[in-house]
Amino acid sequence: MRAARVTRLDGPAAIEVGDVPEPTGEGLVVVDVVAAGVTFPDTLLTRGQYQIKPPPPFILGCEVAGVVRAAPAGSGLAEGDRVAAFPGFGGFAETVAAEPNVVFPLPGTVSFEAGAALPMNYLTVHFGLVRRGGLHPGETVLVHGAAGGIGTAAIQLAKAYGATVIAVVSTEEKAAVARAAGADDAVLADGFLPAVKERTGGRGVDIVVDPVGGDRFTDSLRSLAPEGRLLVIGFTGGEIPTVKVNRLLLNNISVVGVGWGAFWHGRSEFLREQWNDLLPLLSAGRLDPPLGREYPLEDAAAAVAELDERRATGKILVKPRP
Ligand SMILES: NC(=O)c1ccc[n+]([C@@H]2O[C@H](COP(=O)([O-])OP(=O)(O)OC[C@H]3O[C@@H](n4cnc5c(N)ncnc54)[C@H](OP(=O)(O)O)[C@@H]3O)[C@@H](O)[C@H]2O)c1
Repeated sequence: MRAARVTRLDGPAAIEVGDVPEPTGEGLVVVDVVAAGVTFPDTLLTRGQYQIKPPPPFILGCEVAGVVRAAPAGSGLAEGDRVAAFPGFGGFAETVAAEPNVVFPLPGTVSFEAGAALPMNYLTVHFGLVRRGGLHPGETVLVHGAAGGIGTAAIQLAKAYGATVIAVVSTEEKAAVARAAGADDAVLADGFLPAVKERTGGRGVDIVVDPVGGDRFTDSLRSLAPEGRLLVIGFTGGEIPTVKVNRLLLNNISVVGVGWGAFWHGRSEFLREQWNDLLPLLSAGRLDPPLGREYPLEDAAAAVAELDERRATGKILVKPRP
């Protein structure tokens, strides 16, 4: 089969497409891939900068949607089922194999393209908002990087759970993406604190979803209402911020780590539980990831480069089959 592999650790240009053996494995579900999602960790993996460091060559692609070709007995899956999956690696290929717990039924109303955009970002945000953040209906959620993958997932899940959402973005074009994803309001990252205070009558927000970190972190803490929670999800801004804990004490606020992968590794049944929570929202059309450009497998390097160079609006997809 054809697959896109990282051959050297010097960025997206090192992704090469070639012929490799088809995956096999006892107890695994074999999925013919229709669409694979490009994620921020893919960009880090091409440079050996992700927390998991497989030696090259390895097939990139942690999330896919497609059709089951074969499934082990007792998995609840069967040949022909439409599924989304989170194999972790191997998704930029015509076929991937994954353990049953990370293969999820895809409602007939959800396209393969949308399905490939769901596992990493929507399950991470579900873990962050629900389990780690304790989101309640009626609360206000501020979302940084709101036109990005985590950001648009956060907008849609927070809205689905009854919150008001203020998006923070770097450009007006990205503000339009965030509004289209469902944000009630959007403000520019430059000077977001006074804008957020004004929009919340001076009170601040209950939850900050932060995949960006960097130098806006202190203003994010200042934007929290009493008993507010800042969810630490990532550091696309580059710098890993530090926190003076007196701020937490003085304002009764919390900084909460959200390490989705660290939480479920070793207990992958948690992912099936999460997916079951999302299924009614998916079937009702409440979760509809904004989609960006699609690339054929042969152009997988360009697909990863688009995300890497901060040009992406909407989910970038790799399509392994014509
Ligand atoms: N904790 C977890 O379990 C977990 C799970 C999945 C992903 N993550 C992490 O979450 C982060 C976001 O992932 P994502 O998929 O949302 O990425 P993405 O789609 O690329 O979006 C990230 C956003 O960050 C903002 N940004 C600010 N400074 C940036 C910079 N210097 N370079 C690039 N973007 C910058 C951009 O928004 P503006 O231009 O509007 O500022 C961009 O839209 C990544 O660090 C990823 O590794 C963590």
